Amino acid sequence: MPATEPTERTAPVITFENVVKRFGDHTVLDHLNFEVRKGERVTLIGPSGSGKTTILRLVMTLEDLTDGFIYINGEPFTYEMRNGRRVERRPKDVAKVATKIGMVFQQFNLFPNMTVLENIIEAPVHVLGKSKGEAVTRAKELLDLVGLADKVDAHPSRLSGGQQQRVAIARALAMDPEILLLDEVTSALDPELVGEVLGVLRNIAENTDITMLIVTHEMQFAQEVSHRVLMFDQGRIIEDAEPSVMFTNPQEKRTKDFLQAVL
Ligand SMILES: Nc1ncnc2c1ncn2[C@@H]1O[C@H](COP(=O)(O)OP(=O)(O)O)[C@@H](O)[C@H]1O
Ligand SMILES: [Mg+2]
Repeated sequence: MPATEPTERTAPVITFENVVKRFGDHTVLDHLNFEVRKGERVTLIGPSGSGKTTILRLVMTLEDLTDGFIYINGEPFTYEMRNGRRVERRPKDVAKVATKIGMVFQQFNLFPNMTVLENIIEAPVHVLGKSKGEAVTRAKELLDLVGLADKVDAHPSRLSGGQQQRVAIARALAMDPEILLLDEVTSALDPELVGEVLGVLRNIAENTDITMLIVTHEMQFAQEVSHRVLMFDQGRIIEDAEPSVMFTNPQEKRTKDFLQAVL
């Protein structure tokens, strides 16, 4: 079991407050409100196009909020109210908080021209200002953790998809994130490689207190690692439940239909 079980009393780490996201005149998220507490692992499920990736990309500051606020550890993140007006926060202030947030994508996104080690130490050295020696030591520990100690000097193109994704996970962890965002990290993998990546993530879930926001179609995995599951449809949360309830006794018809289709 994880070191701590988040309870109602642990502080919110991510808060969405009336978040609106539009692309042109297409409203993807319409006044979305939810909270993720410290150490909590929350899985987002729902049909394709329901806004799950957009939510993660907003937290990662890869997309701009149309309206509303995101708070990180209770502090306004990208926008705040100042003199009664909603204004953008200074890029420097956003960037400082953003270093605490890591993301792993469906398509690995490793730097192809760098070795495995160089991929992992890049941000700790250039963003956090760690010494190269310190970054290398940590990178090797993390490669050990993901079972790739022997691939330090390999280039990504020489690795299998599962190995590349494990490097991407190590790269995210090298920033010592408080929040880890996982967007369908096994969806691009051949079926026989899914297990090794999920195994690494289970290990991280069990042995760290990192707050995780997870999008996955691996329902067994979601059931095992999540404290809470949010069912999305058309940019709205239609059901919010513990996995034992969500996966065995969902209340909403749309949740039942969705789970029937994917299980
Ligand atoms: N950059 C974009 N430009 C226009 N529409 C987008 C963009 N990104 C996402 N969308 C639209 O937003 C909706 C939600 O997408 P997404 O968050 O990727 O959903 P999910 O991850 O749940 O499949 C979809 O209708 C998608 O087409
Ligand atoms: Mg998506």
